[in-house]
Amino acid sequence: MDQSGTELQQLIETGQGRLELLIGWDNPAGQRLAMETGFTREGVRRMPDGELQVWSRLPGDPAGPAPRLLPDLPGGELSDGVVTLRPLDERDVAFYAELHSLPEVVITSVPPVPPSAEEVRRRCGRAAANWLAGTRADLVILDTATGERAGEIDLYYQEPPTQQAMIGYSLLPSYRKRGFATRAAQLVALWAFAETDIARLIAGAAPENVGSQRVLERAGFRREAFLRSRLPGPGGTRIDDVQYVLLAGDLLAQASSGSDH
Ligand SMILES: CC(C)(COP(=O)(O)OP(=O)(O)OC[C@H]1O[C@@H](n2cnc3c(N)ncnc32)[C@H](O)[C@@H]1OP(=O)(O)O)[C@@H](O)C(=O)NCCC(=O)NCCS
Repeated sequence: MDQSGTELQQLIETGQGRLELLIGWDNPAGQRLAMETGFTREGVRRMPDGELQVWSRLPGDPAGPAPRLLPDLPGGELSDGVVTLRPLDERDVAFYAELHSLPEVVITSVPPVPPSAEEVRRRCGRAAANWLAGTRADLVILDTATGERAGEIDLYYQEPPTQQAMIGYSLLPSYRKRGFATRAAQLVALWAFAETDIARLIAGAAPENVGSQRVLERAGFRREAFLRSRLPGPGGTRIDDVQYVLLAGDLLAQASSGSDH
């Protein structure tokens, strides 16, 4: 713990009342310090020049560190030698804007509209904070051989009480049909089952999105349900969703049957 951490610890030990920290979304180090010292995230304070995260600590709160639903990646990345996954950050704004302007990516997004430049900056800039908060892990898929950005894969921890999370992914056109999405889904699934308490990993695809369904089958997911009108479509329409699920046991069964990509 650095000097500001030591000072914060002293304040906690001597303080009688409520301690409050306002932390910028672009300050994951501050957020880590708050978590390490037992602060609880309360919400978001809207300010004229932007939003701040509100963290508080009361006397009697358990000493930190607060539990992490989504821990850091071991060594900062995941790789199988062909693709490498690393956390999305503010360096990825141009790539993210390019990927999310593609019509076939927009139509599979919720909502199905291209994000504004401001929204792109916000998503990239807040990715580290969301990961620390345990709500989502946004990852860039890199071509390991060149280090170039090929796509993204995101894990949304939507239902911690039932230990169910969802993944979604997209590739730039020049990197498709090379097994990258399948490999990325497998890497995220292995990490999720090994390093988090996630028990069910789900993913959805539009009925006509054969490519995405094939990715999920190759990655060991099983088709589970057909959800009618599940998602908002363009112009006020609704889109059906084919839902797939992967359990840790499915991966083990796949491994013991010798199936590999
Ligand atoms: C869907 C998508 C992610 C597939 O990524 P990818 O890296 O090309 O997928 P993979 O190379 O891992 O392909 C896995 C399998 O699916 C097949 N496949 C991939 N795209 C396909 C397509 N458009 N039509 C039919 N089969 C397809 C591959 O041939 C491969 O099959 P195989 O195992 O029998 O050889 C990519 O096309 C994409 O980004 N699409 C736009 C966004 C999107 O649909 N995202 C998913 C939202 S649910």
